[in-house]
Amino acid sequence: MTRNWRLERRQDHYYWRAKREGYRSRAAYKLLEIHRKYGLLKPGFKVLDLGCSPGGWLQVALNIVGPKGRVLGVDVNPIKPFKAENLSFLQCDLRKPELPSLILKKLGGKADVVLSDASPNISGVWEVDHARQMELAEAAYRTALETLKPGGSLLVKVFEGDLLEGFRKTLKENFGKVRIVKPKASRSRSAEVYLLAEGFKGG
Ligand SMILES: C[S@@+](CC[C@H](N)C(=O)[O-])C[C@H]1O[C@@H](n2cnc3c(N)ncnc32)[C@H](O)[C@@H]1O
Repeated sequence: MTRNWRLERRQDHYYWRAKREGYRSRAAYKLLEIHRKYGLLKPGFKVLDLGCSPGGWLQVALNIVGPKGRVLGVDVNPIKPFKAENLSFLQCDLRKPELPSLILKKLGGKADVVLSDASPNISGVWEVDHARQMELAEAAYRTALETLKPGGSLLVKVFEGDLLEGFRKTLKENFGKVRIVKPKASRSRSAEVYLLAEGFKGG
């Protein structure tokens, strides 16, 4: 951890707020903000969260879907177990071709919402990081094509750059509406934005 990074964390309002409010990550506030603005999640929903570790988004989703909903997290890294019986976890690379069938089994059917906050380790070389991020976003989109209910929504993290517009157009072919959203909890100097695609036209 570099000195600058430590200093930034000490000054990070969302980092401390997450500690105080019991969220596993500051990222929880990004999903909360998007949900409050666009009404993404509902009680009883089945939610798939790709790249879910350490689990801030899982906590937010679980609170909103409630006991009648189901939440499934996927990550290459493990997570600390949750007590909730309606939350399950698959440790898997989201680019694995067999993932969609594992998801459908674990979730007991298709999801109402697919989330992806998956991101690679940042190299600091802009073109490399952009390409790696877009590869994960495309893998999340391919997974959503097989695991999302018609009419459902996909929220996926991307990095701004050359490949973004092509990806946005691909989503537009399969969803009724696609917006680019940048929640306040996302650092303003970061290239990170989210695509919110609503009204899936069906696989
Ligand atoms: C920013 S973190 C997600 C934070 C999470 N939304 C939360 O609220 O705690 C990004 C995650 O993407 C995961 N990831 C990166 N590449 C992946 C891959 N190929 N398959 C699955 N997960 C991946 C990382 O392991 C990391 O846990």
